[in-house]
Amino acid sequence: MSAEQWSQVNERDIVNSENKLMANVFAKKPIVIERGKGALVWDINGKEYVDCTSSYGVALLGHSHPRIVKAVCEQAAKLISCHAGFYNEKRTEFLQKLANITPHGLDKAFLSNSGAESVECAIKLARRFSSKPEIIAVMGAFHGKTMGALSATWDKKYRDPFLPLVPEIKHIPPDNLDKAREAITDRTAAFLVEPIRGEGGIRVPPDGYLQGLRELCDQKNILLIFDEVQTGFGRTGTLFACQHWGVIPDIMCLAKSLAGGLPLGVTVAKEDIMSKFKIGDHSTTYSGSPLVCAAASSAIDVLLAENLVDRAATLGAYFKAKLTILKNKHKTVKEVRGLGLMLGVEVKFDVLNAIFKTAEKGVLILDAGRNVLRFLPPLVIEKEQIDKAVSAVDSVLEEEENARASGSPAN
Ligand SMILES: Cc1ncc(COP(=O)(O)O)c(C=O)c1O
Repeated sequence: MSAEQWSQVNERDIVNSENKLMANVFAKKPIVIERGKGALVWDINGKEYVDCTSSYGVALLGHSHPRIVKAVCEQAAKLISCHAGFYNEKRTEFLQKLANITPHGLDKAFLSNSGAESVECAIKLARRFSSKPEIIAVMGAFHGKTMGALSATWDKKYRDPFLPLVPEIKHIPPDNLDKAREAITDRTAAFLVEPIRGEGGIRVPPDGYLQGLRELCDQKNILLIFDEVQTGFGRTGTLFACQHWGVIPDIMCLAKSLAGGLPLGVTVAKEDIMSKFKIGDHSTTYSGSPLVCAAASSAIDVLLAENLVDRAATLGAYFKAKLTILKNKHKTVKEVRGLGLMLGVEVKFDVLNAIFKTAEKGVLILDAGRNVLRFLPPLVIEKEQIDKAVSAVDSVLEEEENARASGSPAN
């Protein structure tokens, strides 16, 4: 197609082309997003949406934050790629800033490109460090879809078509310290858990569980890995979710929002653990490219300068209180859960249709399983935008309940 023809491409062409040319593994909504600013995005027809998805938690600082845009443009003009076999000042700058904000002692990093890769690295590192093979994850967990990460992910619908998976990764009931203790064998290398389970329905653990896991790991000489891919970087109102309970893992997985929207995965570990990796044990071609590191370095600056972690706590409490009012108003709402700006509303019906309906009303939200509406807005979201999101959910719940009362599903 010529440049002129491209400029005339319409919504239907784009939808048809992506469906034809891209692997059909995403449950797509028929909306062509063209641009974004802060917590808003606009589709190709100019319709505005409050984005409570942040592209699955990525656009934590808001879409196209000007400082990220500037950092990326400046670095792109200077040097985009530099293999980790050489040194680079942007990579060093980012690593130093990251080490300044990660929980005490977690200051040696492996840089990759996604959440699943950060988990892959953690699994390999735990095996390398302990010389033991077994990883214990929990039922309901989501850790990504590459083979190692998938082996720690719980949902059968993701796993079953790809069996056999990586051996000696097993699942135990979550939030249960007795089951955790019973599961340990002399082959156990590590526990791998999300401090708050995201895909699993925004499940906050009971107080004492993560502390108990830490104590258990210390007693039994087992590593504790926290997957903070979704919870990390301020999302839950602390820099890392584990800080709500004062627990420091041995290895932590990060990704999603870390580089202001660019792809970056990071596995951070205590020095003695990461140092078990020897040259060639693990690598990826893109590890810490200057472009991504420039964005990530700037993202840390923005997070701190704009006080976004406190904002997540304050606005999260505001958002949760408003959602709780909906719970008291609508009998189809079972529970409102979450911390900071990582919130879930469990309802008594399949949420897919509700998500389409809120989109029609100009609000984008996510699901987390079949019955949970998930809210992961940018931390820069404004109160009025939260009000708009809550009001859209309110009317969709009302429609659902009216439809149920009249005996026909709302669609
Ligand atoms: C907790 C957690 N771990 C890992 C992943 C996988 O990350 P990615 O999709 O970047 O591979 C996700 C993605 O949603 C996640 O929520």
